[in-house]
Amino acid sequence: MSTAILQSNNPTDVSSACSTYSLTTLQFETLHTRSAAAKATAYCPYSRFHVGASILTEDGAFIDGANVENASFPVGTCAERVAFGKAITEGHKKFKAVGVATDISPPASPCGMCRQFIREFCELQTPIFMFDKDGAFVVMKLEQLLPLSFGPEALPPPGSLPA
Ligand code: THU
Repeated sequence: MSTAILQSNNPTDVSSACSTYSLTTLQFETLHTRSAAAKATAYCPYSRFHVGASILTEDGAFIDGANVENASFPVGTCAERVAFGKAITEGHKKFKAVGVATDISPPASPCGMCRQFIREFCELQTPIFMFDKDGAFVVMKLEQLLPLSFGPEALPPPGSLPA
């Protein structure tokens, strides 16, 4: 990814990312601490790869999730989809930023299925913060992670197509 720049968690990088994406430093720090803490809630006995996610809603709430695996491997679910499933079923509708944390460096980025899942609920400008094991991060907008994406507005209204 040519635009993927690993940024450190020093105050200069953090405050520049916060001003670019209109987040407070506290919101950024909380996104990091909550996504990192959510790793501990993962159910990942097969991969042992802990992923935590945290979503900042427009009204300032944080909704967390972690990956949940399954003995039938493809049935497992990623942290991002667990977090968005929770957020949507709790009634949240607008989202300001997404954080994803893993124990590797450079940081992991959301898988293709998660990118599409996020696309359903977030503006294309929404920042996705990918934190590595030490809190260094890469941030990209959803539209950079999923260019030329297909979203809900592309579908004609139900009932408007011929049977
Ligand atoms: N995983 C996530 O939770 N999010 C991603 O975006 C990438 C992968 C999980 C799925 C599986 O439980 C483990 O990481 C290894 O692939």
